[in-house]
Amino acid sequence: MDAKTKRRAEELRRLIEYHNHRYYVLDSPEISDAEYDELFDELVKLETDCPEARTPDSPTQRVGAPPLDKFPSRKHSLPMLSLNKAMTKEDFLDFDRRMHELIAGEGGLIEYAVEPKYDGLAVELIYENGVLVSGSTRGDGVSGEEVTANLRTVKTIPLTLQNKKPPKLLEARGEVIIFKSDFEKFNKAREKSGDELFANPRNMAAGSLRQLDSRITAQRPLRFIAYGVGIVDGITISKQSETIDLLDSLGFKVSEKRGVFGSVDEVENYYNGILSQRDSLEYDIDGIVIKVNSFHQQEIAGELSRSPRWAVAWKFPPVQKTTVVEKIDVQVGRTGALTPVAHLKPVSVGGVTVSRATLHNEDEVRRKDVRIGDTVIVQRAGDVIPEVVKVITEKRTGKEKEFKMPGRCPVCGSPVERAEGESATRCTSLYCRAQQVERIFHFTSKGGMDIEGLGYKTVEILVDKEIIKDIAGLYLLHKKRDILLGIERMGEKSVQNLIDSIENSKKRELSRIIFALGIFGVGENMAGLLASHLGSMEKLKEASVEELEEIEGVGPIVAKSIYKFFRDNNNISIIGRLKDYGVKFPEETARPKEGVFSGKTFVLTGTLDSYTRAEAKREIENRGGKVSSSVSKKTDFVLAGVDPGSKLDKARKLDVKIIDETEFKKLIG
Ligand code: IVH
Repeated sequence: MDAKTKRRAEELRRLIEYHNHRYYVLDSPEISDAEYDELFDELVKLETDCPEARTPDSPTQRVGAPPLDKFPSRKHSLPMLSLNKAMTKEDFLDFDRRMHELIAGEGGLIEYAVEPKYDGLAVELIYENGVLVSGSTRGDGVSGEEVTANLRTVKTIPLTLQNKKPPKLLEARGEVIIFKSDFEKFNKAREKSGDELFANPRNMAAGSLRQLDSRITAQRPLRFIAYGVGIVDGITISKQSETIDLLDSLGFKVSEKRGVFGSVDEVENYYNGILSQRDSLEYDIDGIVIKVNSFHQQEIAGELSRSPRWAVAWKFPPVQKTTVVEKIDVQVGRTGALTPVAHLKPVSVGGVTVSRATLHNEDEVRRKDVRIGDTVIVQRAGDVIPEVVKVITEKRTGKEKEFKMPGRCPVCGSPVERAEGESATRCTSLYCRAQQVERIFHFTSKGGMDIEGLGYKTVEILVDKEIIKDIAGLYLLHKKRDILLGIERMGEKSVQNLIDSIENSKKRELSRIIFALGIFGVGENMAGLLASHLGSMEKLKEASVEELEEIEGVGPIVAKSIYKFFRDNNNISIIGRLKDYGVKFPEETARPKEGVFSGKTFVLTGTLDSYTRAEAKREIENRGGKVSSSVSKKTDFVLAGVDPGSKLDKARKLDVKIIDETEFKKLIG
């Protein structure tokens, strides 16, 4: 290998790892994916042409190595201890009291370093002179399995440390986790391909890390968060907080949620703060870890055989609980889909009482084999509807009853039907009350006709009292003022506002009307596409399945659904009445390729006053611009609304121009 090749290989390795770190750890890329791929491809080619240029720390090795027969065992140079648990505030206060007793003579001052307790798998990574040489699982704490090839595939694990003068030896410890969103995506794909599903992100992380074929591990979205060290040779640290800062500076992902506190009250506030964010975090956590910050004080407190005295895990209430299915009934949604719902003996899950859990559809009930009377594990994650995770079959008595999807809609009594290849069973009647309410409510939504003053309850009353039976009926409400005034909580003023709001909605753009119709599969973005490509309601009505499929972004299922929608006489008559009652159906001009935003890329963050996301996107695209989902150096504008997210920070970091809604309106004239 000539010196030039060697130098270029080194340079490419360094560059790729640098950009990896920016992308995966800092979440702030400096180059486009295409530019990254170019660097990567160049290194692959160089290593193929000249195999001596390939080193074990080359980013190309992240794709995995040939399979092993089994994992060698590896003894940890310092044991990987576990943590004592605190289940209640009193347990934590006991811990604090013990610490003050043990660490006397320090003026009573104890600082605690606090961070989330990740629900993943502990591993240790060994770096010699800044290069990753080995990685192993925690195992029984004394020795674990060496899974180096697998860990090399994890993008947030640096193959070389980001430091000119790395320590001679560094044993980094932390947790391998999977983001909840990655887990969902992965499981969805497995469901499609008929593979067995993972129960939770933790199980998936464990299963992925213990693959003998690291090429499989490389396909799994694993991440690593560092929280501690074993032996460190070459750098002196004296506190837990310094450890995390060191790991951060070496290129590891560490918790941005960590804190150092001097009082139990502050720790308790932290606990409550993290608990309230639990659902919105990208990964699962099951509590917080509280560590005495000073290493000197840690030594005084000492260790028990399996766990240190100087640390405790203050756990959160569990998000999974066991309960009993009392009955299963069926709800009907806007598109007429029948959803089986389990009624449960109420249990408190993660601090919220749960008495119902969705069973999604018929196949799901079969797959999980949920029967009436079963003892089940329920789970509540985020704002989503609680779910039945699994049945505890050992508790069956034989008296459990199987669920059967009804042959008729439980709301209107019409026959139900399940189309081939679809998981949903649907009510066939367009006049079904459940569908009527859902459809009308959807029609008035912010991204649709944006009619204010009509809550779900009010729509239910209007439908039940047969004041309106479909969306067109809304435009006759001004003639039914007296009836409206008779409804509970509807005063003069709210009735007037509602009528004004309905009147105003007659001018809505085509894309909103299309969305508001509630066609199966047509969301805000899709409605925008249809409006700009077809230009008028007439064209949309007449479009054939083939014409619809030609529009980029419209797949065969949605194309068919749109086509079918406009072949239904009832739907056509409703649209005709909307027109008769004054809804304008403005035409939308085809999207120009050129405009004030030609060649410009926007990123949207936060909520805007006068536009939904899809509308802002359309305004930009109608003027030749593009909207991208993440901020990079290539972004021209970040349009920031209320409550902007991390994209705004990133824009500031990268010096990208930030505009607010007023400036945006000026730009589009
Ligand atoms: S510190 C002595 N910090 O909890 C210190 N552990 O029960 C022990 N864990 O095996 C580890 N998040 O898998 C520490 N921020 C965190 C953690 C954490 C999760 C896990 C780790 C360990 C287990 C101990």
